[in-house]
Amino acid sequence: MNLQLSAGRVLLCFSLLSVPVGGVFAGDAHDADIAEARALVKDYATRLKGELKHALKEEGVVQAIETCHLKAPDITTEASDKSGWNVRRTSLKVRNLEDAPDKWEAKVLDEFEKRKEAGESPKTLEYSEVVEKEGKRYFRYMKAIPTREVCLKCHGRKLDPKVAKQLDSLYPFDQARGFKVGDLRGAFSLSKPLQK
Ligand code: HEC
Repeated sequence: MNLQLSAGRVLLCFSLLSVPVGGVFAGDAHDADIAEARALVKDYATRLKGELKHALKEEGVVQAIETCHLKAPDITTEASDKSGWNVRRTSLKVRNLEDAPDKWEAKVLDEFEKRKEAGESPKTLEYSEVVEKEGKRYFRYMKAIPTREVCLKCHGRKLDPKVAKQLDSLYPFDQARGFKVGDLRGAFSLSKPLQK
């Protein structure tokens, strides 16, 4: 009897462990989708980081803004086209208005802020859920993007006046400034349609 009980408990623990993100779906039916989303984020982030690093080193900050402006949207489109997922970045304070969150994303970003306040590391915050829209089901996944030191050159509180000027001219509605290290700069957001 005792043995059965503890076996049950072990099983329960396992099933909880197998859903590492706070999705509302039952069981672990979406483990493969989560794994795929994580791999896509890794790829996409590596491409973005690579471009940024290269531009900062070769061109300096002001010119790197132009490079981000031109290349980030292309890298985003490419990541979506080759994966069949919709892959993008979003934030509660956007620079590119195209990155503005939809209602679901804004809610998840709010939750990320709360979970961070409660002590979770911004490096590991993620969330997934199956949502329905216009009669179709979608698997949606988000992973937080923490602010690092290098990000402050273009997203920090004190910007070089030349940097601020360049940002003003390309992004007259820019909200993505005033961040400090460890803040949530935004999140990767992925979605794909599910079969009925
Ligand atoms: C050289 C300046 C520069 C640096 C450094 C920089 N960014 Fe950005 N960032 C930009 C520009 C420009 C955009 C808008 C790109 C576009 O038009 O799609 C942007 C957009 C973003 C977005 C998309 C959401 C939005 O606001 O439109 C995120 C997320 C982001 N940056 C995170 C970071 C992080 C994290 C770092 C540090 C690892 C960083 N950035 C470093 C210039 C920079």
